[in-house]
Amino acid sequence: MSKQPDTTRRAIVGATVGVGLGIGTLSILVPFASLNPKKEVTPETEPPKEGDLFVFAEGDKKGQEITFDDLPLGGPPALAYPKDPKTGVVKSGERNNLVLLIRLNSGDLSPEAAQYAADGTVVYSAICTHLGCTVSEWVPDKGELLCPCHKGIYDPRDGAKVVGGPPPRPLPALPIRAEAGKPVVAGGFTSPVGVVAGLEPQGGSCAV
Ligand code: FES
Repeated sequence: MSKQPDTTRRAIVGATVGVGLGIGTLSILVPFASLNPKKEVTPETEPPKEGDLFVFAEGDKKGQEITFDDLPLGGPPALAYPKDPKTGVVKSGERNNLVLLIRLNSGDLSPEAAQYAADGTVVYSAICTHLGCTVSEWVPDKGELLCPCHKGIYDPRDGAKVVGGPPPRPLPALPIRAEAGKPVVAGGFTSPVGVVAGLEPQGGSCAV
């Protein structure tokens, strides 16, 4: 994985959108990740499954299991990987396993979002459905998720539906439940992660 320099990212985001930078250090942009040929599945690359916990993917708490109390109410999101609690393996070998955990007021969630949430917390894939960049920015005044590549905007309160920019579909949700104060995976992603063949724009690509 390579990091996207801040300067490059800011140049892409431009000056017109004010964002909170809480989850920026893993703004890794790997276009068309979902179009790669199938790779061998290992414990580190298998997709999240029921019973998995979550660990921080970056920052001071990187690798630490996430509790609901770790998540600030109202955002910003935490960028995370699933972790198999039986083996202790963190599933960071597959970029498509990157997810965003966002704790919101339960009453603010749409019925669709609420059915996959626990303790007001929703979990979505962090891989943009437009061209596969990491959805790494947070718009604090609107409580929205922003993909810096082409300003795709998703509403976490409403099933991560697209409310701005070019993404063709919502971010997939990952259903969770609460166990011992921690969010735990309760099922698989609600739709394919990342770019879906046939929905990506012709001739497009991430800028970096
Ligand atoms: S890759 Fe996210 S908006 Fe284009």
